[in-house]
Amino acid sequence: MTAQFPMIRPRRMRKDAFSRRLMAENQLTAADLIYPVFVLEGEKQRESIASMPGVERVSIDLLTDVADELVELGIPLIAIFPVTPADVKTELAEQAYDPNGLAQRAIRALKQRQPELGVMTDVALDPFTIHGQDGLLDETGYVMNDETVEVLIKQAVSHADAGADIVAPSDMMDGRVGAIRAALESDGHIHTRIMAYSAKYASSFYGPFRDAVGSSGNLKGGNKYSYQMDPANGDEALREVALDLAEGADMVMVKPGMPYLDIVHRVKTEFKVPTMVYQVSGEYAMLKAASQNGWLDEKAVVMESLLAFKRAGADAILTYFAVDVARWLKQG
Ligand code: PBG
Repeated sequence: MTAQFPMIRPRRMRKDAFSRRLMAENQLTAADLIYPVFVLEGEKQRESIASMPGVERVSIDLLTDVADELVELGIPLIAIFPVTPADVKTELAEQAYDPNGLAQRAIRALKQRQPELGVMTDVALDPFTIHGQDGLLDETGYVMNDETVEVLIKQAVSHADAGADIVAPSDMMDGRVGAIRAALESDGHIHTRIMAYSAKYASSFYGPFRDAVGSSGNLKGGNKYSYQMDPANGDEALREVALDLAEGADMVMVKPGMPYLDIVHRVKTEFKVPTMVYQVSGEYAMLKAASQNGWLDEKAVVMESLLAFKRAGADAILTYFAVDVARWLKQG
């Protein structure tokens, strides 16, 4: 009796490092990373964030040091998030388009220090409204669409005026990409790229971010269900992406990341356009907390999570781990 042995043994290729490397379908590099930074007023200011251990808010003078490090590590893009002091927040979010606002000053400082580092800005009103919603409210508390878009246009143009390379509307108002694109074109900002947060879900994974920018208290238990997407939906994400592309988006974003890999994959497969993914604050907090408890191996799980984004079809990943990852990649 001859025993039946398999002719096909997938394990052959997995036996040695050389053949595993040879057949790897995806690879993570520093060029895939986008690094988000929370920016503070003042000088030599550095604050930690309780729900995001290892992430800090920094003032502009320290932000420019971060820029040097990103260039050194080969990370192509920084994303800035201003932490607006409470006393400049208003109902109408005027601070969002102040040419001397925190974001606008940060953009100028970054472009002056490291011209080749891409600078991306968040276009949404939540850091600037006293209620923490991404837009202007009517008397019932509903976030008004078209009135909000008018302010978003001013905000995006002020970022482009300051030198932003990419504006990223993260507000989920209808028609904002087209309106921003038209305004940028008519102001001569023909090179400003738009990264549309096209598939942005009403996610509970944003909690730590709202602590970081100080908008959670303002939101007072309110939610963003009337504009951000329902986690139940997938087809709707494709529709949002199609609209944003038709309106002039250069890139699209899926957010959050890990629970939405199916969306990343569907978007990339369907549209074949630059597709970014945001590993959000709550994902960071989960991986970090488990690692700090010794329950997970931080480097291993972070690298695995980012490779999984690439496998799903992401072209770049916005992650609070970007600097750590680029260092690990450099160490080999
Ligand atoms: C603001 C904005 C949010 C995030 C990025 N831009 C919060 C929100 O929509 O409430 C969340 C990012 C994160 O959790 O890391 N529009």
